[in-house]
Amino acid sequence: MSSDNSRPREITLRFLAEPTDVNFGGKVHGGAVMKWIDQAGYACAVGWSGYYCVTVFVGGIRFYKPIFIGQIIEVKATVVHTGTSSMHIAVDVSATDPKTGARKRTTRCLIVFVAVDGAGDTVPVPPWHPKTEEDKRLQQYAVRIGEMRKEQEDEWKSMELLELA
Ligand SMILES: CC(C)(COP(=O)(O)OP(=O)(O)OC[C@H]1O[C@@H](n2cnc3c(N)ncnc32)[C@H](O)[C@@H]1OP(=O)(O)O)[C@@H](O)C(=O)NCCC(=O)NCCS
Repeated sequence: MSSDNSRPREITLRFLAEPTDVNFGGKVHGGAVMKWIDQAGYACAVGWSGYYCVTVFVGGIRFYKPIFIGQIIEVKATVVHTGTSSMHIAVDVSATDPKTGARKRTTRCLIVFVAVDGAGDTVPVPPWHPKTEEDKRLQQYAVRIGEMRKEQEDEWKSMELLELA
């Protein structure tokens, strides 16, 4: 597949945090935020690759600040690294108080999607090439997270909790 950077590299979802997103403490549930991250990452991966995509890894997630019901949420997903079939996507979540306009970063994460065809087999994605210094830093971060993830997975595999047939 050719290198096609004319495809959208970023996508931002914007919506209100709704009462159905609330947790037992009256703020937005962490699981709701993770769902938004997955949705934005999915839309970004599909837009970049032109294929249906599945999540294979979620890492480096950090919840910085709570989100309150009625705040305006922005979930920005950006391709920061591509492999053969994988797209590493940085997702930033911010919340704005509509009364004051005050905006804060609430959550950050790196999520990896893989493009698959109708049979569920992986397919190559257009390569993304960093242009700016910031792009290069983000790509290096994604590569480093990938290396750490491999080490963790090897360690985790040696500690099976499930007995599978
Ligand atoms: C996606 C899937 C088909 C890939 O199959 P696989 O046998 O792991 O395929 P591969 O080993 O060739 O890996 C495919 C890509 O995934 C990447 N990958 C695999 N495991 C990974 C992990 N834990 N973290 C990050 N990337 C990973 C590989 O590096 C490879 O990337 P590349 O093509 O850019 O080099 C399979 O893992 C799968 O179906 N997973 C479940 C997906 C799912 O159900 N997600 C939740 C709902 S969407």
